[in-house]
Parts: sequence; structure tokens; C-alpha cells
Amino acid sequence: MVVDFDKIVNRIGTNATKLEFLEEYFGQEGLIPLWVADMDFESPEEIKKAVVSRAEHGVYGYTMHDDAYYNSIINWNLRRNGWRVEKDWILPSLGVVTSIAFIINSLTSEGDEIIVQTPVYYPFFKTIQSLGRKVVYNPLKYKNGKYSMDYEDLKNKINPRTRLMVLCSPHNPVGRVWTKQELEKLATICIDNGILIISDEIHSDLIYQGYVHTPLAGISNKISESTITLMSPSKTFNLAGFFTSYILVQNEQIRKKIKNALNSFSIHQNIFGISALNAAYSNCEYWLEELIDYINNNKLYVQNFLEKHMPDIRLVEPEGTYLLWIDFNGLNLKKEDLDNLILKRAKLGMSDGATFGEEGEGFKRMNIACPKAVLEEAMERLLVAYKTMNNCPQK
Ligand SMILES: Cc1ncc(COP(=O)(O)O)c(C=O)c1O
Repeated sequence: MVVDFDKIVNRIGTNATKLEFLEEYFGQEGLIPLWVADMDFESPEEIKKAVVSRAEHGVYGYTMHDDAYYNSIINWNLRRNGWRVEKDWILPSLGVVTSIAFIINSLTSEGDEIIVQTPVYYPFFKTIQSLGRKVVYNPLKYKNGKYSMDYEDLKNKINPRTRLMVLCSPHNPVGRVWTKQELEKLATICIDNGILIISDEIHSDLIYQGYVHTPLAGISNKISESTITLMSPSKTFNLAGFFTSYILVQNEQIRKKIKNALNSFSIHQNIFGISALNAAYSNCEYWLEELIDYINNNKLYVQNFLEKHMPDIRLVEPEGTYLLWIDFNGLNLKKEDLDNLILKRAKLGMSDGATFGEEGEGFKRMNIACPKAVLEEAMERLLVAYKTMNNCPQK
């Protein structure tokens, strides 16, 4: 390993949401932050150098995207995903959630229906609601510890006002990396019913060994014509603060509408984000490979620890992302007692499952993109709390 992912970096004093908002959000002090989906690791040296070098120039005027920017996105998708993206398809944007809002605004009207597959990253349904569109819930099926899509339920929920689907691929929080067959089946239903798919692929670079990310739009020309793909180097290289995501759209008519929406709000990226993206996609693949290994080891550590010491707490096998989806339902605790166990006794700041939809009740999401020593402390704390659980009233 060239990269020292064991290094503990002090993020206090950097306005890091994960740390500085922790106590206020959970109403509890002394928590280990395992919630907000960014990493506690430093970004690759090459990215730091590129940003510092740009900063040292001293003139920070309006900036356009050059060929290096477009080529780095095109080459990244070709190398990592085997997907050939055209320069014209690329629309630089701010955050992925911002893009979702712009797309919804430009392609649908108030009262239109948009499908999400819960439990899912909650800004999906919050954004739909805040824009006055109706959320249609197509919950994932959870059977024998594995999640799958419910195609029959999806077909039953579609009606003439259903316009869009927001797909999470790979899926946050359940960690599924959808197979080509699963995606194809989903896309066929959507296309047959005139529904466009926003495919949020922000986690697509973080895939565990044995699984492969399939870009939805890369499956066929027909699917590509009905797909709007959202990508970003933000999860991959810990660049969330730069807000430097991009939208990929093959369909010219749809692209024009989204472009108009971005232009009408004068959306421009900042110079540091552009430098960071170029450096990330051009020089940092070695770093990503090491990161995936490190996170995989963290995952195995949590998995083995739970199996050995707390077998009634079940880890849903993650196929991608650095977010673990942990099923506490085997403990048979009431919600307030589970919260008491996690927050007050173990003092762990994990995301509550129910925030991702009612299907997430009894689950917690744990961010493992941190030095292993932090996870070791977290698991030891959980074990101590678990052993004293007899004091907790059962459901
Ligand atoms: C699926 C998914 N989409 C989007 C985002 C946020 O992206 P951005 O910060 O670019 O809006 C996250 C962050 O956790 C996420 O998990």
C-alpha cells in the first residue's frame, strides 16, 4: 500500500458537517461520526497539488471547461465502465441532488408522479416533494437478507401521470450493485410506459470484488435515449465539498431542456472543482484501487465482528459503496430502545434507517470510510452496549 488510510486526520475546525453538526443533529455528545456520506481520508496527493497549484496562480476569474475536462470524463467512463460517452452528452453541474432538482423541474410539471425505490437516499423523495411532484413508492423487496426490485409492484403503480423514475445505482443505503439483467428489466418497463429514468450513479466507482457496475445508459442505444445519468468524482475521491458533478444525456431533446434549465439559473462550476476532477480522473486510479481494498477490509472486520459477537445483528451483504446497511430487527427492540442502545449507550452517530423510508425501520446505516481504528472503537462500544441490553425492554 502506498496510501496511508490508517492516518487519523483531525477534521475539527474545517466546518465538516459530519463532525461539526453531529451533536446538534443527534442531540447527544461524544458520538463517533459514522453518518454523512463522505470519507475521513485525505484526497489523493495529486488532487491536492492540482488545487494548490490553481490557487497559487492568484487570478480566479470566470472559467470554462476545456478539452482536458471533457476527455477526463470520457476516458474515465471508457476505462472504468467500458462505456463510450460523447463530449456533447456532458453537462457540467453542481451537486447530484441539484441536478435531480433541475431535471425534475425541466421535464415534469406540478402533480406529475415520480417513482423511487425505498429505502433510498432520502433527498430523492424530499426533492420530488419540495417541487410539488408526487412521490410514487416502489419499495425494494427484502428476502433472506437480500434486496431486489419489485417489478410487479412497479407496473401496478404506473399511470398516465407517471413521468420519471429516480434510480439509485449502486443503491444507497442497501448496497446493491444492480446486474445488467435487473437493469434491463427495469428499463423495459419504464420505456414501455414512456417513463424516463434518472440514474444516479454517484457510487459507481466503489464496487467490491466480484461485482460489476453497469451504467444503465451503456446497456443499449434504446435505453440510453431514455436515461439521464448522474455521476461525480465526489464519493470516489472525497471531493463532495467541490460540488463538481456532471449529467450525461444522449437524447438531444431532453439534453436541450436540461441545459436550458441549468443556463437559466446560470449554473457554473468553480475553478477548484474543475482542477480536482481533472486530476482525479487522470492520475488517481491507483489510489482508488487501494481505497477499495481498505474499505473492503473494514467491511470484513465489521462483518466478522458482528457474526462472532452479536449474531442477531445482521449486516446486509454490501456489493458496493462505503455505507453498510445493518439490520437490528433481530434484537426485537422498540424504536426508542434501539436508539437508546446506539446513541446513548454505544454513542455511535449512525444514520437512522427510517430516514430512508418506512421500510428502513429497525436498520441503521454505518459509514465505514474511516481509519480502521475508528471502526474498532465503534464496534467495541457497540458490544459493550449490546451486553448490557438485558436492561432494555423488548418489543
Ligand atoms: C445516491 C446519492 N446521490 C447523491 C448524493 C449527494 O450528491 P451531491 O452531494 O453531489 O448532491 C449522495 C450522497 O450521499 C448519494 O448517496
